[in-house]
Amino acid sequence: MSRIVLGVSGGVAAYKAVLLLRAFTEAGHDVRVVPTPGALHFVGAATFEALSGNPVTTDVWSDVPEVAHVRIGQEADLVVVAPATADLLARAAMGRADDLLTATLLTAHCPVVFVPAMHTEMWLHPATQDNVATLRRRGAVVLPPAIGRLTGPDSGPGRLPEPTDIAALAGVVLAGGAAALPGDLTGRRVVISAGGTREPLDPVRYLGNRSSGKQGWALARVAAARGADVVLVAANVEIAAPFGVRVVPVGTAEELRAAMLAEAGAGGEAMADVVVMSAAVADFRPVTVAATKLKKGTAGEPSAIALVRNPDVLAELVTKRPPGQLVVGFAAETGDGDADVLTHARAKLLRKGCDLLVVNDVSAGQVFGRADNAVVVLAAEGPDTEVPHGSKDAVAAGIWTAVTARLAPPAGS
Ligand code: CTP
Repeated sequence: MSRIVLGVSGGVAAYKAVLLLRAFTEAGHDVRVVPTPGALHFVGAATFEALSGNPVTTDVWSDVPEVAHVRIGQEADLVVVAPATADLLARAAMGRADDLLTATLLTAHCPVVFVPAMHTEMWLHPATQDNVATLRRRGAVVLPPAIGRLTGPDSGPGRLPEPTDIAALAGVVLAGGAAALPGDLTGRRVVISAGGTREPLDPVRYLGNRSSGKQGWALARVAAARGADVVLVAANVEIAAPFGVRVVPVGTAEELRAAMLAEAGAGGEAMADVVVMSAAVADFRPVTVAATKLKKGTAGEPSAIALVRNPDVLAELVTKRPPGQLVVGFAAETGDGDADVLTHARAKLLRKGCDLLVVNDVSAGQVFGRADNAVVVLAAEGPDTEVPHGSKDAVAAGIWTAVTARLAPPAGS
């Protein structure tokens, strides 16, 4: 259990802070909500008090003997400000202490995550951007806002990311500190495949696999939080798109191949800096796909299913990669009588020719659909990286750190 301060400032997205509070308490954390007076125009103090089980005040004049403005910040393991309005970011950047939340920000020794939400014009204004840069320079994490529908009919960057995304990223910072979410992918284009392909047999049946897509989703969410422009080629995953991420839905291995080759780009502006193949691609597909449903007791009843090899998408991406692009493969391996997991994985890294191979030990059959994971990132050149057991988002952060260490400097730098 950790002690989380949830700062809420006065924007309409304050209603989503209620769901974030719920996500934190359900994960077992002790949450103290510190709203600004403006936030209470949108959500009542009673809601925050009932759901957190802790008192809620906005100023430094209540419970004076408690010296709340010092104690709350000092005792916190993490401060998350969601939504962080343009005004709150400005006051935090100035180091003001004119309410309990800004005073708490000045006394907190722990990591601080700001989750901005405001109108696009306010977000893009140089004053706000300067304040964000100041807060980041001082070590705070400032998440990029989601792009989408704002209050009223307009749309653009400024939306609060979904509470599930914020909670997952807050977990990364709790586990690894603010250093786990640096802005090191800013200006980078990243293409990730996720999920598992389905190879149709007839209009209702398919050959599939058990991949949930959760690790690929976590990779996309963390890359977006670290500043990347992210495309997620998603094979049969029904999870909502992480904030700021463009999802390209696909079904079969052939569709996934076409989408990955197009999105990876063979040159020019669309070239991806990093391509990650975390999808479970079916190695085989039925030779024929029946146009109508296969029925028992008819002439069409199959006695066996003939299969043909699917293309190896990772190997093709490696062959066609433009200079400077980093290609990352995944391997779920088990040890056997011939060799252990890492020996099999190193042979696969050489066979596939990719730059990095993220290895999951699935000997215990424990990875599919689970919320946590542990991996080793094998490198074609340079040292391997062991990413310890943690949430799939924490593991994603470890994988991106191994990737960014190998990225060539951005063009023009
Ligand atoms: N992969 C791919 N195309 C395929 C099969 C796999 O691009 N037709 C990619 C996966 O996305 C993953 C990597 O290759 O990044 C390793 O997948 P895996 O199934 O372990 O590789 P295989 O070559 O099928 O190895 P094995 O013989 O062990 O099944």
